[in-house]
Order: sequence, then C-alpha cells, then structure tokens
Amino acid sequence: MDAAPSPVDRAEPLVDGFGRVHRDLRISVTDRCDFRCTYCMPEDGLQWVPRDRVLTFEEIERVARVLVERFGVDAIRLTGGEPTVRAHLDELVARLAPLGTDLSMTTNGASLVSQAAALHAAGLRRVNVSLDSLRPERFAAVTRRDALDRVLAGIDAAVAVGFDPVKVNVVMVAGVNDDEIVELARFGRDRGVTVRFIEYMPLDADGGWDGSEVVDRDRVLADVAAAFPLEAVVRGHEPAERYRYLDRAPGTPGSEVGVIPSVTTPFCGDCDRIRLTAEGQLRNCLFAVDETDLRAVLRSGGTDDDLADAVRGCVADKRAGHGIGTPAFIRPGRSMSQIGG
Ligand code: 5AD
Ligand code: SF4
Repeated sequence: MDAAPSPVDRAEPLVDGFGRVHRDLRISVTDRCDFRCTYCMPEDGLQWVPRDRVLTFEEIERVARVLVERFGVDAIRLTGGEPTVRAHLDELVARLAPLGTDLSMTTNGASLVSQAAALHAAGLRRVNVSLDSLRPERFAAVTRRDALDRVLAGIDAAVAVGFDPVKVNVVMVAGVNDDEIVELARFGRDRGVTVRFIEYMPLDADGGWDGSEVVDRDRVLADVAAAFPLEAVVRGHEPAERYRYLDRAPGTPGSEVGVIPSVTTPFCGDCDRIRLTAEGQLRNCLFAVDETDLRAVLRSGGTDDDLADAVRGCVADKRAGHGIGTPAFIRPGRSMSQIGG
C-alpha cells in the first residue's frame, strides 16, 4: 500500500523562468545589529526600520507556513541584521520548528553564550557564526566592536549545546585578513567547526566595495592545502564548495573546510533561495532590485491564496544571475544587513 503523500510531495514546485526550484527560505527577523562590520554597515548604523513595519512573529509564521505547505520549502534560515537582537527569538523558533524544515540561523555569535541553549531547546538545529579574525585588534577593526572573546565563547557554547554542524563564516578582504587563512583553518580543526571562506560581495552599506579587495577561492585553497592537505567533497545543493582534510575521519566535527566563491564562481545557476526581509518584502535574489510586498498582502486581509500568488510572481521574475563584475551589474539599494544574509 502506498504511504500517504507528505505535504512536500503534494506541493507545487516554486519554479522560476530558468527552471530553478526554490526550497530555501531566508527570513530576516530584524535589520538591526549590535555590530558594525565594515563590509556591511556604516559606523553610525543605518536608518532602522520602524518597529510597526517589521513583521510580527505571527506574520512570519504565516508566510513560512504557506511556503512550506504550498511550495515544499524545506529549509528555513533566520538572519538579520543580527537575529539574536530581536527579543524572544526562541519563541519564533518554537513556532517555526513544527513546520518540519531544516531550521538554522546566521549570527554574529555575540549572544550565543546566553541564547544558544534556549534556541536549541526551541528547535533550532544549526548555526553559522561570522568570525573574520582571531586577533583581537583586527576583529575590533572589522566589526567595530571589541567582542572577539564573546564570539569565541559563543562558538564553544553552540558546539556544547549540540548545534551540528557549527559553521564559521569568514568574509575575506584583501589586505585585511588574507594573511590569517591558515590560522582560521586551524581554528576550525581545533574547535570542531566548519570554516567557510566567503568572497567579499558588493553589499557594503558604505559602497566602498572594489573588485581588488576580493580574495579569490584559488588563493584561499592554496594557502589551506599547503598547511593541511585536502580533497574535494562532492557538492550538494549549496553555494559552498566543500573540502575534507585528508588527516581527518570523514564526517567528524572540524573535518571539513569550505569556500563560497560568490564573486568568481557564482552559484546563481543552482540557486534555490528566496529571502524575506524584516519588513516583509520578498526578494528573489540577494542582488534583486525589485521586491514583492508580502506585508501589504498580510495587513490588508489577504488570504493564503493571495500570499501564494504574490510569492509565485516574485519567483517568476527572478533573473538568471547577479552579474557582479559585468557592465550590466546593478548594485542593490540595500546592504547585507537590510536584506538578510
Ligand atoms: N560580502 C560577503 N559576505 C558578507 N556578509 C556580510 N556582508 C558581506 C559582504 N559584503 C556575510 C556575513 C555573514 C553573512 C550573513 O553574510 O559575514 O556571515
Ligand atoms: Fe551585523 Fe552581520 Fe552586518 Fe556584521 S555582517 S554588521 S554582524 S549584520
């Protein structure tokens, strides 16, 4: 006898004009952040979205439910700004966990010492922590906060409460931290976390990005492999290229390292992501110039069918790729913290 179809089997694929099926939802829960990373935010912060324009937990849960039940979304990642500055984030996690998706969060790590246990208990399963340097002065120069020790303790707390895997995101900026590649790789091996080196993208609020600051993946891999021999791991549906340390047992914590070559080798052709901003705008790309206003649908008494129609329209308009470095590239009007990573 056939098993009853799961909601995902019954779902309509969320497919764009290039045949890409979207199953990964990124939800920004706030545009605010307690850090001021130079590649993301200006020193004085940004004009924060007024609180009444930020989606409530009920609204976020409703959008997520429609996307999961109707379109088979199977992965949800909470982002910001910094998601942990939103009060009672564990309550949102508890609302989303029953949807049964892979549920993860990207964080600057500064609040994990106090929040990791509650978030894990509420159903969050994986975290990615940003960490660009292991040197206190350099960390402070990049983030404009003297918080290295707190973040390191946060990473340990995340491992201790059982997030698995814990990943560490390093944005590589030439002349800033490209002399620390081996130390950061060693840190991942020692702490049992997967370090991923990200190519710097033009999403800084200051508009200072210039292609010469990108540290490309070949350089990162050459440095890591010279210290710790590597082999490529077959890549799944993800922007990271994964590598395994040959001296480590496959699948053990800290046995892998990754690169995210968003600029030199864009993932666009395989992209399965959509993004909901804190204000309830749906974006079909990090670099999208247009957004679909789901908050307006939510707050004008729209039905789930209305929400689904708006989502379908947004995805249908997705462009083939971001085209960074080509003459046709248009910088989005928002920075990373306003979009959600
Ligand atoms: N380029 C690449 N990555 C960035 N991030 C923030 N701004 C940029 C940028 N301009 C990263 C953060 C975090 C994730 C949300 O995105 O380090 O890990
Ligand atoms: Fe905050 Fe993340 Fe932007 Fe840094 S990169 S300022 S931690 S939102």
